[in-house]
Amino acid sequence: MATMQAVVLTQPGSLENLKLETVVAPKPGVGEVLVEVMASALNHRDVWIVQGRYPNIKTPVILGSDGAGIIREVGEGVDPSCVGRQVIINPSLNWGNNPRVQSSQYKILGLPDNGTQAEYVVVPIQNVVDKPEHLTMEEAAAIPLGGLTGYRALFTQGKLQAGETVLLTGIGGGVATLMLKMALAAGARVLVTSGSDEKIKKAVNLGALGGANYNEEGWGEKLMALAEPNGIDLIVDSAGGDGFFELTRIVNPGGRIVFFGATAGNPSKLDQRRMFWKQITLQGTTMGTPQDFSEMVRLFDVHKLKPPIDRVFPLTEFRSAYLRMWKSEQFGKIVLRHTA
Ligand SMILES: NC(=O)c1ccc[n+]([C@@H]2O[C@H](COP(=O)([O-])OP(=O)(O)OC[C@H]3O[C@@H](n4cnc5c(N)ncnc54)[C@H](OP(=O)(O)O)[C@@H]3O)[C@@H](O)[C@H]2O)c1
Repeated sequence: MATMQAVVLTQPGSLENLKLETVVAPKPGVGEVLVEVMASALNHRDVWIVQGRYPNIKTPVILGSDGAGIIREVGEGVDPSCVGRQVIINPSLNWGNNPRVQSSQYKILGLPDNGTQAEYVVVPIQNVVDKPEHLTMEEAAAIPLGGLTGYRALFTQGKLQAGETVLLTGIGGGVATLMLKMALAAGARVLVTSGSDEKIKKAVNLGALGGANYNEEGWGEKLMALAEPNGIDLIVDSAGGDGFFELTRIVNPGGRIVFFGATAGNPSKLDQRRMFWKQITLQGTTMGTPQDFSEMVRLFDVHKLKPPIDRVFPLTEFRSAYLRMWKSEQFGKIVLRHTA
């Protein structure tokens, strides 16, 4: 029986329970392909799972939603000429037929199904798209979950137009840095928040107009001043927490707030009168459809975009990679390189 190396979570609660183990390699079933994973990347989801702060955790499980690699084997019903294709994996499984919302069978690769932080992963053939040539395997692995979530948040849900101003909160985050690239490519003006002045500088170097530190008094006022004269049309937020109340104040009347995370918890207050009087649209979003994924990869391809990569660790140093995200030290995506 073929075996492989994989990062296995044996029990949630501690990074010590995340171990590089030799396990049985998967085999592709009907309609599936076996991908040799050349690189994978971390998402905050992986850290939530290790911390035991994610619903319906089952162990043991191989984590990882992001990956890029080469198709090595196909299951029944898949064209064998696919073998050798260099692909990016779409971690959004079983979306279903309604583009507005995922089906009840929906799941994300990397829990409950085994994920990409392994030598091999099995996914349905419709969950791979060809890797754009300008991206290395490591760059391609940095895109899937964050790019998909960010693309749907900005464009499918947020309806971002060229010339509009969008505020991205917590710019050090993996999804946020990918959104920065995509929003700039679409011709938008981008403002950011961060808990680190250094990260705001990095965002400005990448093309952001400016930003404010959410730990400092008056960050909302500063952003409104930076957004003069047209104000903030769209805010994409994944932090939630008490800062969300301020977001509803600084967004333009008639503006949109799209959100997909609650890193800082639920807001302790919201003002309904303020929100209806300003006619704000609040729009939740999660992951994305196969069409969102294809359009996102196409955007990267057409504009020859590169994802901001914080650091690349060899797979064997997976614990240092997790720790870096755990402490929010990153700016951009944290990638695991699987090849020597
Ligand atoms: N629903 C979905 O489909 C979906 C998909 C992807 C992610 N998510 C969620 O979205 C969030 C971000 O994911 P990620 O993978 O990008 O995480 P990440 O790379 O770990 O980034 C998290 C970032 O949040 C920022 N942050 C922390 N506290 C904040 C606060 N009080 N105000 C503003 N920003 C704050 C920090 O930015 P600075 O370092 O700049 O301060 C940090 O870097 C997570 O909660 C994740 O679970 C949801």
